[in-house]
Amino acid sequence: MADYDLVVRGGTVVTASDVVRADVGISGGRIVAIAESLTGATSINADGLLVLPGGVDTHCHIEQLQEGGGADEESWVTGSTSCLAGGTTSVITFSTQFKGHGILAPLAEYRRRAAHAMVDYSFHQIITDASDAVIWDEIPRIVAEGVRSLKVFLTYDPLQLDDRAYLRVLAAARRAGAFVTVHCENYEAIRWRTEALLKDGRTAPKYHAWSRPRMIEREATHRAIALAEMVDQPIQVFHVSCSEVADEIARAQARGLKVWGETCPQYFVLTADDMDRPGFEGAKFMCSPAPRAAGDAAGLWRDIKRGTLDIVSSDHSGWCYGGTRGKQVNGIDANFRDIPNGVPGLAARLPILFSEGVVGGQIDLNQFVRLTSTNPAKLFGLYPRKGSIAPGFDADLVLWDPARKVTLTNAMMQHVIDYTPYEGLEVTGWPVATIRRGEVVMRDGRVQAEPGSGRFLPRGPYDMIKPTGMLPDGFDAALFA
Ligand code: URP
Ligand code: ZN
Ligand code: ZN
Repeated sequence: MADYDLVVRGGTVVTASDVVRADVGISGGRIVAIAESLTGATSINADGLLVLPGGVDTHCHIEQLQEGGGADEESWVTGSTSCLAGGTTSVITFSTQFKGHGILAPLAEYRRRAAHAMVDYSFHQIITDASDAVIWDEIPRIVAEGVRSLKVFLTYDPLQLDDRAYLRVLAAARRAGAFVTVHCENYEAIRWRTEALLKDGRTAPKYHAWSRPRMIEREATHRAIALAEMVDQPIQVFHVSCSEVADEIARAQARGLKVWGETCPQYFVLTADDMDRPGFEGAKFMCSPAPRAAGDAAGLWRDIKRGTLDIVSSDHSGWCYGGTRGKQVNGIDANFRDIPNGVPGLAARLPILFSEGVVGGQIDLNQFVRLTSTNPAKLFGLYPRKGSIAPGFDADLVLWDPARKVTLTNAMMQHVIDYTPYEGLEVTGWPVATIRRGEVVMRDGRVQAEPGSGRFLPRGPYDMIKPTGMLPDGFDAALFA
């Protein structure tokens, strides 16, 4: 009689700390054993392949609601398909608040839509209006529901929070035991430079980068950290584009603050020059913070090696290049201010990081697993259910061919978006099968999963995001305001 429902046979199992040749025994959707010569009711051959924990993408935008009605073009079904094609089995996406409204109704709508997911999922609640009701009543309620992280934007109309509103969100998070993620760019500086660029007739996509140079990201990161330090609220700085921003995080970490930094594949392989393609084509590469210069990738690798940046997420954005809703929503001649930001990347995240990082000699296999699965699972309260290969963990696995050479095309991404900014990029290393809770849901690029088979991941309290206890003067202002 078989001991397990499924055995992954003969692969090389990689975790955050180990690389071992072993079989993986799975029953009831969980990992039960890692040993030699296991027997299962079914098996999948992983000879010559790496067996990695399923990717955990803690920053991606899927079916995000828009203020005027409707949602991103990437739906839960297409987004999940792309995730599974690229080896990602869990995501944290966003629920957006619109100014003048609360957060309970949108979150309920996001949960209703996510009922079609084929990956496991949770949400960061975006706070755009720090009203008394949201701060004192609604944030504790969504945290009790298991939505334990918030996102704030220090720039972007109409999402931006000023410093006072940001402080109120930090304090509310402290009281509720939630984590805060921050988009760090200086709102007024971007507005001022954008006005000047447009007055001078500099409207093309490439001026997006000119409107938000690196020091405005550095300044906002410094401020975001200083204010979080004053409140004693742990934060993660999202999408760090370059080393001088990471330096702010490194200084905070050296002072013992709970500040973490995330970066994304686009900052390793795209540059501001990509936005300088003929005509409107540069819009395909527009995201914020903007991709920097060719030399900046080397700095980001140093920041990863020194531990300053410890998560690589996709920041997948669900906008097509063509059509009337995406990059061209304001026409093919729109000035850079009126072009939606963001680049798609759910399926490209693991292959690009593996190729540039592991094959490129920057990181080892364990570090790859830490950046893409273990660290995101730990920081966002999904560990020890997600993020590793060990008895008791959900059986989320990727069988990875480390030698397979692939030239990326949009068709391989299997998203609904009509382009990939990585078209033509050559990578080494590719997912050949994805297993989600013990079910083989992708094999040789064919995704087979039932819409609705993804599960909501409620996140309870965990130590990593507890405050440090260091407050200026010992006075806890968060108890009062
Ligand atoms: O340009 C980007 N990153 N768009 C997505 C929204 C965000 O800032 O994360
Ligand atoms: Zn952001
Ligand atoms: Zn984002």
